[in-house]
Amino acid sequence: MSDAHRVKFTYLSQEDLLGAGCFDIRMAMDVAEQAMLAFEEGKVLFPEKVVQIFNQATQERINCLPATLLDKKVCGVKWVSVFPMNPTRHNVQNLSAIFVLSEIEKGFPIAVMEGTLASNMRVAAMGGIAAKHLAHEDSEVIGFIGAGEQAKMHLVSMKAVRPGLKQCRVASKATEEEDVFIAELSPLFPDMEFVSLKTNARRAMEDADILVTATSAQAPLLKAAWVKPGAFYSHIGGWEDEYAVAEQADKIVCDDWETVTHRTQTLSRMYNEGLITAHDIHADLHELVSGHKPGRESDEERIYFNAVGLAYIDVAIGLAMYQRALQANTGTPLDLQQSMIFEHADIAQNARL
Ligand SMILES: NC(=O)c1ccc[n+]([C@@H]2O[C@H](COP(=O)([O-])OP(=O)(O)OC[C@H]3O[C@@H](n4cnc5c(N)ncnc54)[C@H](O)[C@@H]3O)[C@@H](O)[C@H]2O)c1
Repeated sequence: MSDAHRVKFTYLSQEDLLGAGCFDIRMAMDVAEQAMLAFEEGKVLFPEKVVQIFNQATQERINCLPATLLDKKVCGVKWVSVFPMNPTRHNVQNLSAIFVLSEIEKGFPIAVMEGTLASNMRVAAMGGIAAKHLAHEDSEVIGFIGAGEQAKMHLVSMKAVRPGLKQCRVASKATEEEDVFIAELSPLFPDMEFVSLKTNARRAMEDADILVTATSAQAPLLKAAWVKPGAFYSHIGGWEDEYAVAEQADKIVCDDWETVTHRTQTLSRMYNEGLITAHDIHADLHELVSGHKPGRESDEERIYFNAVGLAYIDVAIGLAMYQRALQANTGTPLDLQQSMIFEHADIAQNARL
């Protein structure tokens, strides 16, 4: 049988990606910035995601997020599960994802890859890029409400753009989770002091230069009074701050305001209740990256950043990881087909007619 109609793709596990050096937050931020510039130039297809929620109370869901990078000639999709009860109920992660990447010359897949790493790095990369433009240059204290996977990755990106961070305070629903956060992150950042706040969110946030909420809660956990003048706040989860946090902010920046209006984050709720409009939004992040809008302009500004997740950034980071893995010669080449259906010599035996 000739190989003329063979279709192959590469399968990449998380271990393949880690082994190839894909846990590289600077690479993720560079790629995200390039993708945002391509978006501004109209070189991205970015349809609305498809959402299937299985349990309204727990918000267990699987979402399908496609996007195309026209300049890279690659189309991809992230298939992502969010099961907020997983950590407490099954002692496994909340979020898991798989990516499929296809070339758009013949439309064939080129990669099927573990996507939790790329997805979590995308969330963190966007927060890091925002912090680069919006957080104080001399930020020293970062505070977290939430000690889960997104919080952990966010520390990685924040430290990359604000290496002067000296102290990390963490408060979550359970002290044990704070202990795990510290045990896993402190070896990466031996120059930082880690403080477990034993579920006291207020003490994690007050006086912090950078505040991060990354929880699976649906409640106004962060209070406006805890956000000091000059602070930068990165909001990752759903509803996790009281409305006054956004109301008192001097600038609100989103990854994409239009997308935020269709979601269920705090800003989305405020929009749906008629409390904020597009006029209250300073910029989308790509406008800071391209220099079309300014970032921080004074020491005293309180700045609020909300990212809801943009599939084209996921695809861009997934593609960069795939390319790095190929260079490192990792991954498993797999056949999708060895030939076209009716070319198979044994088709008459295998067909159930
Ligand atoms: N914005 C985005 O692009 C994006 C992307 C992925 C995930 N998310 C969201 O980020 C959130 C966190 O995801 P994760 O993967 O880190 O989940 P996770 O389950 O690993 O962590 C959730 C954390 O929230 C804490 N928490 C829950 N309720 C709390 C409360 N009442 N007070 C204090 N802490 C509380 C838990 O203790 C835990 O530390 C989820 O809501 C997820 O949907 C957002």
